[in-house]
Amino acid sequence: MHFQWYPGHMTKAKRMMQENIKLIDLVIELVDARIPMSSRNPDIDELGKNKARMVLLNKADLAEDKWNDAWAEYFKGQGYSVVKVNSKKGGGLKSIQNVIQEACKEKMERDRKRGILNRPVRAMVVGIPNVGKSTFINSLAGKAAAKTGNKPGVTKGKQWIRLNKQVELLDTPGILWPKFEDQAVGLRLALIGSIKDEILQTEELAAEAITFMNTYYSGVLEEKYALESSADPYVVLERIAQSRHCLLKGSGLDTEKAAMLMLDDFRSGRLGRLTLEYPAEGEK
Ligand code: G4P
Repeated sequence: MHFQWYPGHMTKAKRMMQENIKLIDLVIELVDARIPMSSRNPDIDELGKNKARMVLLNKADLAEDKWNDAWAEYFKGQGYSVVKVNSKKGGGLKSIQNVIQEACKEKMERDRKRGILNRPVRAMVVGIPNVGKSTFINSLAGKAAAKTGNKPGVTKGKQWIRLNKQVELLDTPGILWPKFEDQAVGLRLALIGSIKDEILQTEELAAEAITFMNTYYSGVLEEKYALESSADPYVVLERIAQSRHCLLKGSGLDTEKAAMLMLDDFRSGRLGRLTLEYPAEGEK
């Protein structure tokens, strides 16, 4: 399967990031907890150098918790502050402010020594498309607004969301591009639904998902769709079509529909919490 990318907005997004990053002290990088490596961007280290750094394992609710913990350790080992979050439901958000302050301790100390008091830490959320940046900002802003009684501003230009006396967050996230030249990364992004389905062959992608399930989560598909196992993913797809009554108008099985249904279950957690990559590959 070949993944093609249309990086038309890439240059513009990168320029905006470069401009905004000058204003901030802390980079809050969101990654997808199911694929913490593939959902990162190779430029972030260059863009975020000399800044305090934080990694948020977002969509932690969709990934296996033991692997979330393993990834958290991995990133901590690399010097990042890490939090597991579910931006949709608000899980993990409570601890964010403390971790932000912890991540910026050095900067605050420097400010204090220079006699700069009460200057808030300025943070920006960055990440690849679909990783949950807007959801995260909205959840955090909602909480902060409720706490301080602030109303969302309507003025144009940059908006800062005041999380507390010490921390402000830029309301527009920085969009980063994934490592689109790497086909294995492309496949994982497609599996979790980060790449638009129109440019992919659904059945081929579902076959990849089935092979992954057979390898790492054996028995799950059989139980979910009440079917007999097979090592051939296309046979499994037909069996899913049978079991879910995905039928073509005349006669025959609608395996395309079955593929969409299966991928939807895969992405939304209905096949359970799934982790697609591990801190040390192969050591699952
Ligand atoms: P972006 O700004 O980085 O592009 O991402 P965005 O916030 O638009 O989120 C992309 C999708 O991921 C949304 O789903 C959002 O609800 C979902 N999402 C974000 N954070 C989490 C999380 O922690 N857990 C889970 N399970 N989902 C999360 P959508 O399908 O586009 O919208 P909707 O169906 O939720 O309305």
